[in-house]
Amino acid sequence: MIPLVYDQVNRWGKDDAFFIALLKKTGVKNIADLGCGTGRLTTHFAKEGLHITAIDPHEAAIATAKRKKISNCGKITWIIGDSSKLHANSYDAVIMTANVAQVFLTNDSWQQVIADVYHALKPGGHFIFDTRNPQAKIWEQWEKDVTPDEAVNQENGDPLEIWTSYEGFQNQIYTFYETVKLAQSGKVIMKEKIQLKFRTYEEIHSSLRKAGFSQIHVYGDWEFQEPTAETKSFIFHAEKRKTHHAQ
Ligand SMILES: C[S@@+](CC[C@H](N)C(=O)[O-])C[C@H]1O[C@@H](n2cnc3c(N)ncnc32)[C@H](O)[C@@H]1O
Repeated sequence: MIPLVYDQVNRWGKDDAFFIALLKKTGVKNIADLGCGTGRLTTHFAKEGLHITAIDPHEAAIATAKRKKISNCGKITWIIGDSSKLHANSYDAVIMTANVAQVFLTNDSWQQVIADVYHALKPGGHFIFDTRNPQAKIWEQWEKDVTPDEAVNQENGDPLEIWTSYEGFQNQIYTFYETVKLAQSGKVIMKEKIQLKFRTYEEIHSSLRKAGFSQIHVYGDWEFQEPTAETKSFIFHAEKRKTHHAQ
């Protein structure tokens, strides 16, 4: 995540409209946006009338989010941190958009996030997130794209180029690098290593069950269709039990 260019290369898409529609369907009011980044989508949630706790460990991303006009509407609380900052029993939904689920590289860190989310949801609360299907091997398409993305430094108007180089896929983790250069001189102003874990449908399903989620629904695209073998992204929608049964 490079906040300087993130919003410019991640424009509004079908996935964003899907998340808004799904939240509307569930009728939630208080949500946590975990891994909110620059608040790209958070501000749209606020426009829909939701109250949001927006959390991300990336300080510069949260600073970028706070500078946005709508971010001061009183409906968003910005927090620098991770899932440990979620309050117990507090949210109607926790959402992780744009593949935040893939930043947790170890099984322990992933299981911890799910446990924290479960703890943070009210009974009957919703956990919603997307993650790419490893079987679709999206990285094979990424690697064909050798042209840089273009952006502009919003502070000084400098035209920028974002170059991506690919290291490859190993142990379910795909590694690549993003480099931001000044378009005119080619001078590198930022470089970031990005690693994404590609978990299978079955792995995610069983990790949700292990954390206590009982009802789990999975969509296979941004039109609310069921997943198939070709599905590019799974969208998980898990619900916390409404009541506790005595043992
Ligand atoms: C691809 S961005 C998605 C940002 C945002 N959700 C969106 O829709 O634009 C992934 C985000 O996950 C955040 N992230 C990294 N480690 C995290 C962690 N341990 N807990 C929560 N978020 C984390 C990154 O800082 C980054 O902002």
